Amino acid sequence: MPKNTLTITDNRTGKTYEIPIEHDTIRAMDLRQIKVADRDFGLMTYDPAYLNTAACKSTITYIDGDAGILRYRGYPIEQLAEQSTYLETAYLLYRGELPTRQQLDRWVTGVTHHTIPHEKIKNFMEGFRYDAHPMGIFVGTVAALSTFFPESKQVFDPEVRRITFYRGVAKTPTIAAFAHRYSIGMPYAYPDNELSYTGNFLSMMFKGTELRYKPNPVLERALDILFILHADHEQNCSTSAMRVVGSAQTDPFTAIAAAAAALYGPLHGGANEAVLRMLAEIGSKDKIPAYIKRVKAGEVKLMGFGHRVYKNYDPRARIIKRTADEVFEVTGKNPLLDIALELERIALEDDYFVTRKLYPNVDFYSGLIYQAMGFPTDMFPVLFAIPRVSGWLSQWEEMILDPEQKIARPRQVYLGEGERNYVPMEEREAVTATRS
Ligand code: CMC
Repeated sequence: MPKNTLTITDNRTGKTYEIPIEHDTIRAMDLRQIKVADRDFGLMTYDPAYLNTAACKSTITYIDGDAGILRYRGYPIEQLAEQSTYLETAYLLYRGELPTRQQLDRWVTGVTHHTIPHEKIKNFMEGFRYDAHPMGIFVGTVAALSTFFPESKQVFDPEVRRITFYRGVAKTPTIAAFAHRYSIGMPYAYPDNELSYTGNFLSMMFKGTELRYKPNPVLERALDILFILHADHEQNCSTSAMRVVGSAQTDPFTAIAAAAAALYGPLHGGANEAVLRMLAEIGSKDKIPAYIKRVKAGEVKLMGFGHRVYKNYDPRARIIKRTADEVFEVTGKNPLLDIALELERIALEDDYFVTRKLYPNVDFYSGLIYQAMGFPTDMFPVLFAIPRVSGWLSQWEEMILDPEQKIARPRQVYLGEGERNYVPMEEREAVTATRS
């Protein structure tokens, strides 16, 4: 009968240790007993960028990167994109099960009742420069929400957490749309609670002088699908930021701001914006081979390609590609689509990308849809952040309720100077001179 343990021999001492394996994992703390001398600290693992370290147990999102599988609470992303709505998916992520009709109605009403932000939020936003990037405004304003809802600090109160979830999911589209309208000098459009979650967002973004904005149902549904696809993605950079900041028992609005700050980066949620800028820079299909050459020379990255976990086609990218066709039927084709398709075709046949298993990710085609819908390019990372709020808050809740979690605090391998004496200023130049 095979044993579920790992036997390690330390060749420095010849000692052998037997370490339990659970869920294909060993506990890093079990290595601490491995020492040469009693006073040693003990063995640690060294894992920059967390390539092979699980920092939590989770029941929310499952990814099999080699097979290109993504599931929320066990449900395949393809089925959710086809049959669910974003708010129902948010319920599923947070509560763990699909809602009954009555539960969903209560949930939607709960979110809808929190869409209007405090009037002072507008004054706060107006402190930003007229040309501020909307993601910068978003990060700052979401952090400010914690000052409007100081009770959100009571992170162990389930009722406070429930209201905070509603507020986070409900107010972030309003903040995002206000940030956009501020940047283009348009008066703010207040939420229309008769509309769906995405219909209302489109209204707050694009409403002109008409009394009531009527969202195009195809675009409204397409945005809802995109929101489902972006809702959660297990322990990525921004979700880890959410968990790490939240582990200090910081209020969740401030933690969401930290998560959104991580998402802003071009290697993460800022990639959708970077893809569009890249496609515009390439400009025409005949320039693609020259661009691929630069990618292979390490001068630039092919934005929207590659993933830490997926070593196969990102299942979200497949759904987005289908959704794009439906959107373009309404809006007309995005002229950059042909460049994107040709870029993908060439990359998927090229040895550089094939051997490194680099496939299009969620950000490769999403920007083309957003642009066709009329969203300005700098809004793209914000469009990623809005639906991810439900994932961040679900992951945060799981962390708060996990008795094994404590304040996050990685270790380091110190390679700096040993102890040395302070050098008075008058003697210091001589030291520097000796060095140089
Ligand atoms: N273009 C060119 N080469 C790439 C790319 C790319 N987009 N991505 C990875 N590589 C190369 C990389 O240089 C390395 O080559 P080598 O082995 O010769 O050094 C190899 O592929 C392995 O890549 P890595 O850097 O070890 O991969 P990682 O897991 O550290 O990075 C990533 C993952 C997503 C940051 C990276 O693929 C990347 O920068 N992609 C472009 C940005 C992007 O599209 N980001 C969105 C990610 S999906 C949405 C989200 O979750 O945020």
